[in-house]
Amino acid sequence: MPLVTTKKMLKDAQEGHYAVGAFNVENMEMVMAVIEAAEELQSPVIMQTTPSTVKYAGLDYYLANVKAAAERAKVPVALHLDHGSSYGLAMQALRTGYTSIMIDGSHESFENNIAVTKSVVDACAPSSIPVEAELGRVGGKEDDLDGGEGNGYTDPEQARVFVECTGATSLAVAIGTAHGLYKGEPKLDQERLSEIRKVVSVPLVLHGASGVPDEAVRESIRRGICKVNYATELRIAYSDGVKDVLNRNPDTIDPKKYGTAGKEHVKAFVMEKMKNCGCAGKAV
Ligand code: 13P
Repeated sequence: MPLVTTKKMLKDAQEGHYAVGAFNVENMEMVMAVIEAAEELQSPVIMQTTPSTVKYAGLDYYLANVKAAAERAKVPVALHLDHGSSYGLAMQALRTGYTSIMIDGSHESFENNIAVTKSVVDACAPSSIPVEAELGRVGGKEDDLDGGEGNGYTDPEQARVFVECTGATSLAVAIGTAHGLYKGEPKLDQERLSEIRKVVSVPLVLHGASGVPDEAVRESIRRGICKVNYATELRIAYSDGVKDVLNRNPDTIDPKKYGTAGKEHVKAFVMEKMKNCGCAGKAV
């Protein structure tokens, strides 16, 4: 079916008390892996690209890939700009045909975050394209940027004001996750999440889910998370698959051979996470 937006997908998730998995894709095999996983599990799915991925091949390239995959599929698929770093990039993604946009003003002051988020929300509204925003700082290595320790957890009262002032349709919260892998076991501030949920009605988003124990992800979903982002572990899965083939047979020159292995590893990982998020069987 044609690409859909994340609006109904996330509303359904919120009402059904599950989360939709959002997977960062970087090449055609990763797109194929994610769509196969979604089809096999009858799950709605979000594929997303960061600014550095967009820089690698271009918004139109990823749109073409994901659109082709979605049109062959029977499950709802959305293409989301992850960590949109500027108003300009958000507008390019909108014009290209992305069906969901994130504007990440979390590195700005509270006031400037509100201003840039509102401007993107206003520009996307006529096309009914939903906008995810971020408040607080999710640390770690996010895209090409080092987010550091991510000291700024989301303040519930600020979150309430932020959503009210901007009209953002979903909100990424900082509750102790970080992008990339963790040195120890991450401790999520689940109480804070519940406090945010009490005062913010839009769907909440968990970034930095690679390396977060499945039980902690499920607990965050029980407390209001409706979208869970995975990037690093997809990269690892893909690379493991490719390395596996090349280590066993260094003379392999057919990209389809090691690409298929990468794809299968990513597919297995995505299926596991879809089941954990509770979105398996929720394609409607
Ligand atoms: P990870 O790389 O930790 O999975 O984070 C993904 C993410 O939040 C993308 O926005």
